[in-house]
Amino acid sequence: MNNFYIWLKLFFDVDPNIHENSVSHNDIIVSQFTKQAQPFSQMAQHSNHYGLELMYELSDPQIEDKVLDVACGPGIIACEFANKVNHVTGIDITPAMIEEAKNLQREKKIDNIDWKLGDVTRLPFEDDAFSLVVTRYSFHHLIEPKQVLEEMKRVCKPNGKILIIDVTPDKDKIEAYNFVEKLRDSSHTGALTFDKLKGLMDEAGLIKLKSKHHKLEMGLESILKSSFPNPADIPRIRQLFKKDILMDNLGMRSHMKNGEIFFYFPISMIIGIKS
Ligand SMILES: C[S@@+](CC[C@H](N)C(=O)[O-])C[C@H]1O[C@@H](n2cnc3c(N)ncnc32)[C@H](O)[C@@H]1O
Repeated sequence: MNNFYIWLKLFFDVDPNIHENSVSHNDIIVSQFTKQAQPFSQMAQHSNHYGLELMYELSDPQIEDKVLDVACGPGIIACEFANKVNHVTGIDITPAMIEEAKNLQREKKIDNIDWKLGDVTRLPFEDDAFSLVVTRYSFHHLIEPKQVLEEMKRVCKPNGKILIIDVTPDKDKIEAYNFVEKLRDSSHTGALTFDKLKGLMDEAGLIKLKSKHHKLEMGLESILKSSFPNPADIPRIRQLFKKDILMDNLGMRSHMKNGEIFFYFPISMIIGIKS
């Protein structure tokens, strides 16, 4: 048992192996993201200008590109790419997210996107169908990220690009990070370190890997309101972040701002080419 778990046991009498149950993971995903669809789509941080600029710099979208947004959620980055490329397809398993995506598309008067409802572990597209295949903030919700990356590669044409954007905690903080994130959002399976994520891209045979990193600041109360944890766990989550202001066990640099707890998500973007 590592120090973090000993600390959890001592202070909170918490069993770190919570969260196993008989409901299928996809049921948990759809249930969570049906509730989260509206608040997630309205949270300004998910359209953070700095993050979007980094994404453009790294992916360098061209007008002739055909983009696939895997686990597109409310279509934020799909709509972003649609302003720069020929055509975008977004796919997600949660109907309420696809509805939000369609609303956003209507609001932005974009006509070069289509949406598909489906499970990204088996992408319903032909081989080599897209030139840029992207996914943001999805890998830490997947049971089989490696399989999804294989699928992303299959539907990407040779010389096309594959971009993954996700949280990548430090190696020595990752257990604590995953613990608190599972408590906050039951659809969280486990974030990967940057090295693990890069390892997956290497194993998939992607070449010329490039990456960028940034920190995304969030307020604890606003994220609690939009992620629907078990109400009984909310005081415990608050305590974990509060204690973390001094200890930084979570690697999220918790801090007080205007009397409220804020923290940073460590975000990485990594892109590779299908040879
Ligand atoms: C945190 S949201 C991210 C949404 C979007 N990519 C963004 O960055 O704004 C994660 C999304 O992954 C979707 N998702 C999770 N597992 C999935 C699966 N197996 N197939 C399709 N979508 C999935 C959820 O429905 C949810 O919309």
